[in-house]
Amino acid sequence: MSQPLITLDFLDKAPATEAPALPLDVRVSAATRTGRTRKLYIESYGCQMNFSDSEIVSSILADEGFDTTEDLAGADLVLLNTCSIREKAEQTVRMRLTQINSHKKRNPGMLVGVLGCMAERLKAKFLEEEKIVDLVVGPDAYRDLPQLISQVDGGQKAVNVLLSREETYADITPVRLNSNGVSAFISIMRGCDNMCSFCVVPFTRGRERSRDTHSILQEARDLVAAGYKEVTLLGQNVDSYKWASADGLEHVNFAQLLERVALVSAHLRVRFSTSHPKDITDEVLHTMARHDNICKYIHLPAQSGNSRVLELMNRTYDRPWYEERVAAIRRILGDDCAISTDMIAGFCSETEAEHQDTLSLIDHVQYDMAYMFFYSERPGTLAARKLADDVPLDVKKRRLQEIIDRQQAHSRARYERGVGRVHQVLVENFSKRSEEHLSGRNSQSQVVIFPKQNFQKGDYVNVLVTSTTGGALLGEAI
Ligand code: SAH
Ligand code: SF4
Ligand code: F3S
Repeated sequence: MSQPLITLDFLDKAPATEAPALPLDVRVSAATRTGRTRKLYIESYGCQMNFSDSEIVSSILADEGFDTTEDLAGADLVLLNTCSIREKAEQTVRMRLTQINSHKKRNPGMLVGVLGCMAERLKAKFLEEEKIVDLVVGPDAYRDLPQLISQVDGGQKAVNVLLSREETYADITPVRLNSNGVSAFISIMRGCDNMCSFCVVPFTRGRERSRDTHSILQEARDLVAAGYKEVTLLGQNVDSYKWASADGLEHVNFAQLLERVALVSAHLRVRFSTSHPKDITDEVLHTMARHDNICKYIHLPAQSGNSRVLELMNRTYDRPWYEERVAAIRRILGDDCAISTDMIAGFCSETEAEHQDTLSLIDHVQYDMAYMFFYSERPGTLAARKLADDVPLDVKKRRLQEIIDRQQAHSRARYERGVGRVHQVLVENFSKRSEEHLSGRNSQSQVVIFPKQNFQKGDYVNVLVTSTTGGALLGEAI
């Protein structure tokens, strides 16, 4: 837990075929060491939005005299940027707070703050429930941190959980803490208006809003100038990106934004996440087809393969619609475009036959990768208010395991397809197995490992793949 984690710390690991995957790892921000007087230790849970927000928080606090540190015991301020997506995510944070309590006993001057989605969901209740917490700040209130910290310095507890309709932190240059110097996140929107019945995000992140196109393009240009080779455009639902200039003369949708970011530099790879099946348009797919530097990878969470369950989930599409969007991807981008999904096992009233539909969708699409979960009821959501969480835990877990097993076979098959072909790989790091090997990803986001020769981080290398472990491609530069 104490080592600094890099942006793509799933490199070298098998694709995430066991739950919980991406949305539950934890990142400790790397040390900045610029000689500032106070030390900030920041740990981030949940999704990439939170990792990206921690970089904004660090930027705001750098102006207040804080350097980030990897040393929890010696920190003046400890911040946990938290996630509420499933009950387990919240339990993890509560357990972490008890560990931090023992550090605070040894270092009584240490201030402890909770940021992010759990802060937003629990608000001032957090201060009552967890005595160790001094500061509770929701995702739209980070600009207020300096003021809140001075309040805490003065001996009071502080809370700001106001959500905003406008805040996008567009003018704040993030301190790149989670980065390997090759790949960076750019937040393009915040919040979500979709109200999927299982999901807490609309309550913790507020209304959907899109960030100024020009500030996004400027951030991409700055990253290129700093030597970055890849950006990932982030939002809960990137396909509904919509921005208009104040004079109303300029209107930009997601396909247009994607194209403009791709045009920043032909040497900059562009990725994006997440696409909602109801919103992904042929225009986006054609834009991807036109630009080699837009990676051929689409995260298109289905959640379920059954139309009745999808309706209960309020996903606003049914299975035929989803299958048609997959067919459009295959039609416009071909079979080489990777597709991944999120699946939820054991949603309210899901029958055995409906669960089989999820398995059959997995077989139909043959996903490259999936994040898979069992349903966890979240207080305040539509499902919690209107539907019974009636699938027994052991049944949820068994169904989840069946989903994982089914997907694992497809992930392996997709890796096997890559053997015997040449892949363009962007080198991101040394392989975790050996310093003699480099590790990177192809356009489809598959991990590729090869002997390093004279190549280095940030290089594009053509690699002839000769074998696969099922979770990574192995080969040699040509
Ligand atoms: N905006 C993204 C999802 C973000 S949350 C989208 O719409 O696809 C990431 C994933 O967590 C979801 O896709 C869903 O599969 C899972 N998830 C969300 N709420 C959940 C819950 N209550 N129980 C189990 N899994 C959940
Ligand atoms: Fe949650 Fe649905 Fe919004 Fe995704 S689109 S964040 S699942 S409400
Ligand atoms: Fe978790 Fe909030 Fe992200 S609930 S998944 S940290 S938007």
